[in-house]
Amino acid sequence: MAKMWAGRTAGNTDKMADDFNSSISFDSRMYRQDITGSMAHAAMLGAKGIITQEEADILIKGLEEILCDIESGKLAINMEAEDIHMFVEQVLTERLGEIGKKLHTARSRNDQVALDLRMNLREEAEAIISLLKELINALLVQIKANKLTIMPGYTHLQRAQPITFAHHLLAYCMMLLRDIDRFCDMKKRMNKSPIGCCALAGTTYDTDRLFEAERLGFDGICMNSIDGVSDRDFCVEFVSCCAVTMMHLSRFSEEIILWSSWEFKFVELSDAYTTGSSIMPQKKNPDMAELIRGKTGRVYGDLMGILTVLKGLPLAYNKDMQEDKEGIFDAVDTVKTCIGIMTPMVETMTVLPENMKRAAQEGFINATDLADYLVKKGMPFRSAYKISGSIVAECIKRRCVLEDLPIAEYKNYSELFEEDLYGEISLETCVAKRISLGGTSLDSCNKQIEFVESELCK
Ligand code: ARG
Repeated sequence: MAKMWAGRTAGNTDKMADDFNSSISFDSRMYRQDITGSMAHAAMLGAKGIITQEEADILIKGLEEILCDIESGKLAINMEAEDIHMFVEQVLTERLGEIGKKLHTARSRNDQVALDLRMNLREEAEAIISLLKELINALLVQIKANKLTIMPGYTHLQRAQPITFAHHLLAYCMMLLRDIDRFCDMKKRMNKSPIGCCALAGTTYDTDRLFEAERLGFDGICMNSIDGVSDRDFCVEFVSCCAVTMMHLSRFSEEIILWSSWEFKFVELSDAYTTGSSIMPQKKNPDMAELIRGKTGRVYGDLMGILTVLKGLPLAYNKDMQEDKEGIFDAVDTVKTCIGIMTPMVETMTVLPENMKRAAQEGFINATDLADYLVKKGMPFRSAYKISGSIVAECIKRRCVLEDLPIAEYKNYSELFEEDLYGEISLETCVAKRISLGGTSLDSCNKQIEFVESELCK
C-alpha cells in the first residue's frame, strides 16, 4: 500500500519493517471513535473557514458513509494499512479525491490517536460500570435470600465469629461500589480533549478546540499541547482501576473455589459454570472462578506493561506509545469477560445453609460472646477472656461445644454463670446482637442493603 507520508522518503519500507510498524491489527477497534473524531474536526474546519462549509459537509458525509460501510460489513478494514487513522483517511481520499486530502489540516496523528483512545476508553469505562452494577444486583438477590443464613466468619482462615452469608456478600458489594467509583473518578480526568494539540506545538490555523471538545462530549481540553499528545496517565489509571477490580474478583473467586470444595461445601455451582475431569469421574471443577483468579495476573501484567512503556519517555510523542494499546485492550476485554461470567455464576449458585450452619456450630465461634456474657455481669474483659479460653480447652478435651457444657461445670469457673447463658451464646443471638452499624445483625445488614441500592441508583 502506498504510504500517505511518502515525500521526505520514497515510502518504500521493508515488508518486515512495515509489519513491525503497523498497529492496525489492534487499533482498528477504535474505528468508530476515529471517524466520529474526524467528523467533529471537519465540522470545526468548516465553521472556522479553514476549509469551506461545503467541503466540510462533503467530508462529514464521506466519513459517515465509511462508518456505515464498516458497520454493515460492506467495507472491510485493510490489515495492510499502517493504522486505523491512515486507513480511514486513505478510503476517504479514494472516495472523495482532492477534498479528502483536506481532512488532516490542523491536526496530527499524535492528537488523533490520543483522542481516539480517550473516547474509546471512556465508553469502555461505562460498559465496565454497567457490568459491575449487574454483578452487584446478582449479589443482592443472593443477599436478600440469605439474610438469616448463618456461617462462620473467618480471620486467618480460622473460624472466628458467626456472621450471615448476606453480611459476607455485602462486603463484596462495597468493594464493587468502590470499583465503580474509581472508574467514575478516573473518567473525570480522562474526559479532556487532546484534539487540536496537533503534532505537539499547536497550530498556526485559527482552530476552535472547545468547539471540537464540546461536540465530542468532553468536559474540557488538555491545556498544554505537549502534554495533550504525551499524556497516557489516563491509560495507567484505567488499567489500574481494572487491576483493582480484578483483585476483588479474584478474592471472591478464591472463596467460591473454597466454598465449592467438599471440605466446605457451602455452595454448589451450576453445572453451566463448572467442568468435569477427563480422568476423575467424580470431579466438578470451578474452572470459571479459577480462570478469573488466574486472569487477574494478566491484568496486573498489563498495568506493569503500560507503566514500563512510559517510564523515562522524553516529551512529546514517541512511537513507543503505540505499545500502550494492546495491554489496555487486553485489560478491558479481560475485565469485561470476567465480570460477565461472574454474574450468572453468582446468580445460579446454590447456597447450602445447613452446611454453613454446621461449620458455624463447630470451632467455638461464640467464645467471644461467652466472654462478653461475663463482662456484662461485671467481670473485667481480660479475666473473662481467660476464663472463656479455659472453658474452650475443657470442651475440646470433652469433645463437646460450649452450648453442651452443663451449667454446673460453668459454675466451677465463675459464679456469674447462670442458665440464661445458653440463650446468650446461641449462634442466632450472637448474630442478632451485633447491631453496630455495618455489623452482621439483620437490621445492620438491611441498612447496608439500602446503602448499596441507593448507590446503584446514583
Ligand atoms: N499508530 C500510532 C500509535 O498508536 C498513531 C500515532 C502515530 N504518530 C506518529 N507520529 N507516527 O501511536
